[in-house]
Amino acid sequence: MERTFLMVKPDGVQRGLIGEIVKRFEQKGFQLVGAKLIQVTAELAERHYEEHKGKDFYDRLVDFITSGPVFAMVWEGDQVVALSRAMIGKTSALDAAPGTIRSDYAIHTNYNLIHGSDSPESAQREIANFFAEHELLNYSKVISQWI
Ligand code: PPS
Repeated sequence: MERTFLMVKPDGVQRGLIGEIVKRFEQKGFQLVGAKLIQVTAELAERHYEEHKGKDFYDRLVDFITSGPVFAMVWEGDQVVALSRAMIGKTSALDAAPGTIRSDYAIHTNYNLIHGSDSPESAQREIANFFAEHELLNYSKVISQWI
């Protein structure tokens, strides 16, 4: 089963949008396998965004992601990498399609609420950067027994 790394950025945490964002992925049918509220260090931010080093927005990106708590998550499901990127929307709120998280809630490209892995390979690397193996849970859905 495919996994992806999603992270509600400091603006999403400050604006009280963790619940709204988690709700969308739960209702889509994906399974949450790990989550935590953390303060990203400069070292972790630089590792996470290493492919963007040298770009004009790199310093701003690192400064922003370390500016306050983030809500880091690992989600599992069929095609979860591509589908979650579609749900998040394009980087700029102007380009994001209506109904996506960024279109619905973001105004500025700098403050675009959520990060999502762009490929299964990136997802593996990013999950390993943020989570230890024991923080990720394997469990089956048993709701049919309860509802
Ligand atoms: S690129 O150049 O196409 O690889 O860029 P992109 O994939 O769109 O974005 C890479 C990450 O940088 C963030 N970004 C920006 N931050 C601040 N200012 C500007 N102008 C800017 N442009 C892109 C973008 O949100 C991506 O971070 P994550 O955390 O993955 O959303």
